[in-house]
Amino acid sequence: MSILTLEKLRKVYLKGDNKVVALDGVDLVIEKGEFLAVVGPSGSGKTTMLNIVGCLDSPTEGRVFYNGSELRAMKEKELSGYRKSHISFIFQSFNLIPVLTVLENVELPLVIERKLKPAEIRRKAVEMIAAVGLEGKENRFPRELSGGQEQRVAIARALVKDPFVVLADEPTANLDSRTAEEIVEIMKRINAERRTTFIFSTHDRLVMGHARRIVTLRDGSIVSDERR
Ligand SMILES: Nc1ncnc2c1ncn2[C@@H]1O[C@H](COP(=O)(O)OP(=O)(O)OP(=O)(O)O)[C@@H](O)[C@H]1O
Ligand SMILES: [Mg+2]
Repeated sequence: MSILTLEKLRKVYLKGDNKVVALDGVDLVIEKGEFLAVVGPSGSGKTTMLNIVGCLDSPTEGRVFYNGSELRAMKEKELSGYRKSHISFIFQSFNLIPVLTVLENVELPLVIERKLKPAEIRRKAVEMIAAVGLEGKENRFPRELSGGQEQRVAIARALVKDPFVVLADEPTANLDSRTAEEIVEIMKRINAERRTTFIFSTHDRLVMGHARRIVTLRDGSIVSDERR
């Protein structure tokens, strides 16, 4: 069974009297463990698609299935489990919480999940911080870090709960090309080690080069779907 299935997804935004068709009938089947890039020109619908899969937005028409269950048909508890435990986001602008330390930022998803004891949460966060190469930075604040380091913290935060799916919207867009390469290497390593499914959007050719599947959107439709 596929981990995610997008079926005839349509998203229409209303801008005043104007209708903007952001997604125009997207069908896509994603298997567990894929390392998939969503590409296409600005405005082609990449963010809209990721946001709908991550429940940050809802489709106008069409359906999203996670492990065979339709998101919209899930009960509140199941849906909140999906959002809290099964999927994670990585954003272009990192979105760390400025008043929390590196350690506290990374602990946060586990604190929200309320499954583990504080000591276990701390242990997992410390381990994850080391896994992204930030050992020793636990007590720093985001403003004391470089962009690349901030994004590593965001990756640690996204992965600490061991999600099944990571949605990353242009995760390297604010980074120089060498740092971008390092970030995508970390994502790739986690993908290989844990079989975490990664779906990331990008405009960067180098980053695309690491994908094992590239889905291209244009005007809200998939115009190519290439496996390599
Ligand atoms: N909240 C919104 N209200 C109205 N229109 C929107 C909204 N969000 C997106 N759109 C429109 O939907 C279309 C798709 O936008 P989307 O952000 O998904 O594109 P994108 O592929 O992520 O672009 P980029 O590469 O610039 O990030 C665009 O025409 C955009 O203007
Ligand atoms: Mg976008």
